[in-house]
Amino acid sequence: MARGEGRPEGTAALEALMGRRLGRQCLYTPSCRLALYVALRHWCGPGGRVLMSSVNDDVIFFVVLAAGLRPVQAPLDPVDGSIDVAAVPEETWRGLSAVITTNLYGNPDPVAALRARCDAAGIPLIEDAAHAIGSRLPDGRAVGTVGDAAAFSLSKHVGAKTGGFLAFAEPGLRPELTALRDALLEPAALGSEALYAVRPYAEAGVRGLRLVRAAHLALRLLGAEERQEIRMPLRAGELRRAVAAAPGLDPFESWVRVDMHPYRVAPGRVRLRRTARLLGDLDRRLALHRAGTAALLRSRWGSGHGEPGAGGTRTQPLFRVPLLVSDRDAAIAALARRHITVGYLYDPPLDVYAAGNDPDSSAAFTDPSPLPRPAAWFARHALPVDPCRADEVLRVLDGLPITPVRPPAAVTRDGAAEGSGGGG
Ligand SMILES: Cc1ncc(COP(=O)(O)O)c(C=O)c1O
Repeated sequence: MARGEGRPEGTAALEALMGRRLGRQCLYTPSCRLALYVALRHWCGPGGRVLMSSVNDDVIFFVVLAAGLRPVQAPLDPVDGSIDVAAVPEETWRGLSAVITTNLYGNPDPVAALRARCDAAGIPLIEDAAHAIGSRLPDGRAVGTVGDAAAFSLSKHVGAKTGGFLAFAEPGLRPELTALRDALLEPAALGSEALYAVRPYAEAGVRGLRLVRAAHLALRLLGAEERQEIRMPLRAGELRRAVAAAPGLDPFESWVRVDMHPYRVAPGRVRLRRTARLLGDLDRRLALHRAGTAALLRSRWGSGHGEPGAGGTRTQPLFRVPLLVSDRDAAIAALARRHITVGYLYDPPLDVYAAGNDPDSSAAFTDPSPLPRPAAWFARHALPVDPCRADEVLRVLDGLPITPVRPPAAVTRDGAAEGSGGGG
């Protein structure tokens, strides 16, 4: 079946449910990364420049490149990895064609300030709300309702391991965005649905049934066991050829599909049924995330973040709580010994990642951040903890010879601007 024939049937109910939550139009996509790609292709002409965060999934970096756009790395706040709007140089604003927020781990980016800057520059604001499905801004608005478009992932809080939404304000855009999405879809394949159906069993580690090898094979085929390191290999030579062929997903397939090979496969009935059940349970899950977030931030390990509820906002139902610790590797190792896996690490920042693999032309793929130290410090010290396992995590951390840390003066905006030492 040719690309574009496999339209997702049965997604209307999911779109209506999410649409009611957000008060925005919602278009189902097989993944958040595809929603972002659709948004970038619709709102930005190829050849443009997009301000984004360097502490982000590398997949998103490749999505931006696939859309024929050049990533421009923003200065970040070292406390939560959000974009430091005031530190973005004026000349950077003049050359941009869009801004993408990350809302890292569920902490909202300062979208009111970003919205104002984007409006002044006449460019779109695109919210990546993958980690922030239940997060709210200080004024009470939901993350994902401020930008021209927002992309949600149903693989995070919802736990469906498939699916996403593109949210947008204008009902009149639906036919065009639907056509754009449909042209990118691959048909639902029986094998892909079957793999999806066995995935929970594969992940449960069915040792007793002697299915471990089959389970790992299934995960590899799903793209869930592809990374040896935090960052995937960049493959600079191949990437340069792909960039020359942009825009288009096909040249970037091997990068964009990492962790989720069926990222653009139209959903079959198994996927949709499981997604509907899990999305219906979202409020209960958000309550668990919120309670765990409060417990972690109340502990001494959350001291770098201030009190939950500070500034009149409620505790966010964070997807992960980025505790700031003195020795992150020691914490990860100790947690692994208790079978608690720490994922969603984004270290090093994307500009360092891109340069490290291509020292001859360090700015070949992205404009580096003008203030790299806050991002590097946050990327090195953030321990993204699943709030649903807050009690276990706190027990492990409390038994370790490591400490909570706060960003030192050297990596705050002023200190970084003076170029003083890195701070550990
Ligand atoms: C910040 C961020 N945005 C987008 C995505 C992509 O989500 P999906 O896997 O649904 O494509 C991820 C995936 O982990 C992510 O971490």
